[in-house]
Amino acid sequence: MRWRLLASRVIAIDGPAGSGKTSTAKAVAAELELAHLDSGALYRAVTLVMLDAELRLDERRIVEAANSHGVGLRDVHGSFHPFVDGFDVSKVVRSQDVTAQVSQVAALPTVRDWVNGVLRQLVADHPAGAVADGRDVGTVIFPDAILKVFLTASLEERALRRAKQEGRVDIDGDGVARLSRAIQERDTADASRAVAPLVAAPDALHIDTTQLAFGEQVAAVVDKAKPLLGIA
Ligand code: DC
Repeated sequence: MRWRLLASRVIAIDGPAGSGKTSTAKAVAAELELAHLDSGALYRAVTLVMLDAELRLDERRIVEAANSHGVGLRDVHGSFHPFVDGFDVSKVVRSQDVTAQVSQVAALPTVRDWVNGVLRQLVADHPAGAVADGRDVGTVIFPDAILKVFLTASLEERALRRAKQEGRVDIDGDGVARLSRAIQERDTADASRAVAPLVAAPDALHIDTTQLAFGEQVAAVVDKAKPLLGIA
């Protein structure tokens, strides 16, 4: 299969919600001049279409709607953003409505096949290669990726990072506990589903980012990737 040959130009970064995989993948891609593909953003864009069209969890109709509404990732000044009907939906896909539903949509096998096909095509079309992040990039989408990374962090640290990301600077202990519960529910849903559950590839490099500064976790991946990509 063609995408298997192409996978030698892919760095896969997987991990649970809030582990820092998307921001890390983006920074690694910028440093190595590769495309950054956020597979979660694609699941979120599909979920947005499902909610707008009130399709519930009918996987055949969801995939039809994803095609007819032109769901995909497009290069915006060197960074790939989720698009629907020609509009950049980067912000709206992070809404609470989408976040609350996306795990259920991501558990549908037909939707997963569709997302995997879109990502493999994007890599095939991108000559430099890509850093792709998600839950099953190294295990299912690109099992031959040149480097597989599994990022983790403690639940509390992940909740604090999410709160910061969402601009909730004055969040109290109860707020962090609520956010932790929501993240844990999503982790459990993602890790216990029948198809492509969240699990580290056996050959993945594990990085616990709880105590790491952002620059340190990016450097850990870049340093490992450079020799594999033949970069000095
Ligand atoms: O990383 P995120 O929170 O944006 O991901 C959104 C959802 O999509 C999350 O519930 C897990 C799912 N997902 C997945 O199942 N497989 C991927 N490769 C990426 C995301």
